Amino acid sequence: MAYRSPRGTRDVLPPEIPHWERLEEVARELARLHGYREIRPPLLEVTELFVRSVGEVTDIVQKEMFTVLKGDHSFTLRPEGTAGIARAYLQADYHKRAPVQKLFNIGPMFRYERPQKGRERQFSQFDIEVLGSADPRLDAEVIHIAARFFEELGVEVAVRLNSMGDGEDRERWREAVADFLRPRMEERCDLCRERFERNVLRVLDCKNARCQELNRDVPRLLDSLSEGNREHFDAVIGHLADVGRSAEIDTGIIRGLDYYTHTVFEVFSPRLGRALCGGGRYDHLLRDLGGPDLGAVGFAVGFTPTLTVLEELGLLADLLPRPTDVFVVGAGPELRGEVLAIAEELRRGGVSAVYDVEGRSLKSQMKQAGGGSFYLAVIVGPDELAAGTAQVKHLARTEQVTASRGALLKEVRRRLGEAEDPAR
Ligand code: HAM
Repeated sequence: MAYRSPRGTRDVLPPEIPHWERLEEVARELARLHGYREIRPPLLEVTELFVRSVGEVTDIVQKEMFTVLKGDHSFTLRPEGTAGIARAYLQADYHKRAPVQKLFNIGPMFRYERPQKGRERQFSQFDIEVLGSADPRLDAEVIHIAARFFEELGVEVAVRLNSMGDGEDRERWREAVADFLRPRMEERCDLCRERFERNVLRVLDCKNARCQELNRDVPRLLDSLSEGNREHFDAVIGHLADVGRSAEIDTGIIRGLDYYTHTVFEVFSPRLGRALCGGGRYDHLLRDLGGPDLGAVGFAVGFTPTLTVLEELGLLADLLPRPTDVFVVGAGPELRGEVLAIAEELRRGGVSAVYDVEGRSLKSQMKQAGGGSFYLAVIVGPDELAAGTAQVKHLARTEQVTASRGALLKEVRRRLGEAEDPAR
């Protein structure tokens, strides 16, 4: 074949769609239960938005953006959802009309990363954001939703938390980190050295094993949080407990985006020994984008990494495709009209129905019908046509009854209704 999808992108083929649908269903249901409304910003934003929000000295902005230049303008395919949602919030004047907005989005993101299992250049995220409030109950809510997303899919998780501080304690910490790193900067990679000059905290985000080793004893912000910021952090832990969730403190959580303040967190799988998703508070992003200085908190989870997790834990098979309800079988070419009429009648009655379009024999149609993708077969032959009837066959139970054409839809619905339970 001459063309293939670009590296790091892929086709989600029909057999995988039920898995994706299930993730979307869980995401939408959690959003609904917690009062989040959907927002759909464009996939394309002006490049400057991500430079300002995600941060100039981050992996995303330095290495991973898909950027297009058109005339004098530079646009970027969104590498993450938070910046666009914050921009949309300000553009819609929510900060003036109804400042606290609970929003979610599901859709594709683009990062020019080295593709590997669960990491792609186009990937979909479920993104939850609360804008316009600094209330610690919302940190706890967002964290809880992130954890529940996995629990609903059968994955056991733990929550790990850290604080990035804000204001003075953050500034003091930045200086302490710089003082700690300075003497051994020569031993580090080029990227670390550049980051040290431009945004010292990003040195802590380096993926290089040697650099990570050198970061081991770096000063911990949590040890020197200001009183107010400590109160916020403790309140988040308290509110997580209110909803029955415990959290571990992990000062190693830094996160790879610049906008974070206060709470940062990851949902972790003890069984797999790795983080599954993350997020945190970003109290000055709205201000940095030209709006008022209102708090915000959110998280995002990727669908592909989630499916990888489910596969590794053997839970993917639980996400079953929904079969088509009926295969309409015709006993010969002269019955084609009748088969079409029956399928149409069923479809108008809300029953999904397909029929053979490849000229298969009766036997081979029956084989196809029984292949596991249908609940019922409706069968018509010359005798049924003459008598104004059709056979309805329950494929799993191999029961078959004759129904009059006038009562066919009712009979099919009755049989499908019986099948609504697990026996279906
Ligand atoms: P992030 O940690 O960069 O945060 O991404 C969140 C999740 O998106 C990751 O945990 C992972 O599941 C998924 N993800 C990231 N990159 C890829 C990739 N290349 N392929 C597949 N999945 C990927 C954010 O994006 C922040 N906007 C989260 C946030 C929302 N913070 C506050 N609000």
